[in-house]
Order: sequence, then C-alpha cells, then structure tokens
Amino acid sequence: MHVLINEQEIAARVHELGAEIAKDYAAAGDLVFVAVLRGSLCFMADLMRATELPLRLDVLDIRSYQGDTGDEPVISHGPMDSVTGADVIVVEDILERGTTLARAVDHLRAAGARSVEVCTLLRKPGMAAANAPQPRYVGFDIGPGFVVGYGLDYDQHFRNLPFIAIPGEADLAALAADRT
Ligand code: IMP
Ligand code: MG
Repeated sequence: MHVLINEQEIAARVHELGAEIAKDYAAAGDLVFVAVLRGSLCFMADLMRATELPLRLDVLDIRSYQGDTGDEPVISHGPMDSVTGADVIVVEDILERGTTLARAVDHLRAAGARSVEVCTLLRKPGMAAANAPQPRYVGFDIGPGFVVGYGLDYDQHFRNLPFIAIPGEADLAALAADRT
C-alpha cells in the first residue's frame, strides 16, 4: 500500500470542511446530510461531528462499481426520511465521472429537496461527465489512479484502512489468491 493521504491530513481537512459547511448553512432550517453508501461512511461519521449545526442524517444506496470498472449507477434504496423542503448535502467518497452523483442529485431534487449540494472527499481530475454536478465542497483533488481506504473499497476490501492509499500489485494479488 502506498499511503496517499494520511490520518492527520484527512482529519484536518474534514474539520475545515465541517467549519465551512457550518458557516454556509448557519441560517438553514432543515439541514440533511445524505451519505452515499457505502464508501462515504467514514467520511460522513467524521464530517457530521465536525459540523457544529443541528442536522439530520440519511442514506442513499447507489451502486456503480463492480471491481474497479464502472457500470451504470442504480439507486436501490433511500433516503429513509423525507427530504421535502430540506437543504440537502450529499456526502460522497469520490467523484470520478460523476454519473453516480448525477443520479443521486436528480433523485433528491425529485423528492422535493429545497436545495441539493455535494460534498465529496476526493475528486479525480478531468474525468467528469458533461452532466456531472459540480461539488460545492471538495476535500482533496487526487490523480486518476484507483484508491482505497477510509471507506473506499476494492471489491469490498480495504474499507477499514484509516488512511487513503493506492493498492500495489501485491495487495491485489493477495486478494485474488484468497479467492482460489
Ligand atoms: P462516478 O460515477 O464515475 O463518479 O463513480 C464514483 C463512484 O465510483 C464512487 O462513489 C466510488 O464508489 C467509485 N469509485 C470511483 N473511483 C474509485 C476509486 O479510486 N476507489 C474506489 N472506488 C471508486
Ligand atoms: Mg460511492
């Protein structure tokens, strides 16, 4: 594993994002953080505690990845509570082409959200689809390589790493060997 962003760097940036959101939404009536499952769970847990405002928490289940190649995103669940009239912040792990987020944002608008903004921990450069929503909040801009950790997975592995890393050939080969 090659560590790209360590625990301290993540924590510092998440606190900045929380402070920024708290400032921007100080006057919001009904603020809802919607986590895009499952990759954003670590980020959501830290971001909500870094945001000193009353807020609700909800989840949306949307899948776009099999292994490390993209498929069409499908919403299978969520949100659980009403977002009608609410100011929603979609909390995402990583923005690549943006097709996953475009689907999530459409869904929340259709559900009657008053506003929908996006907070993504990571963004890969220059790969966004034309209809991709522009995130209002971005934790880190990274390169195009595949990353894991702090919620992000490769075939459901590595989500529990406390840092963000680029898996090496040996890490992936070890997983393949486990399956045989
Ligand atoms: P998009 O629709 O291309 O923006 O895909 C974004 C989704 O793909 C994210 O929510 C992740 O679940 C997944 N994804 C994209 N890049 C990576 C990566 O480098 N590591 C792990 N998951 C990724
Ligand atoms: Mg995701």
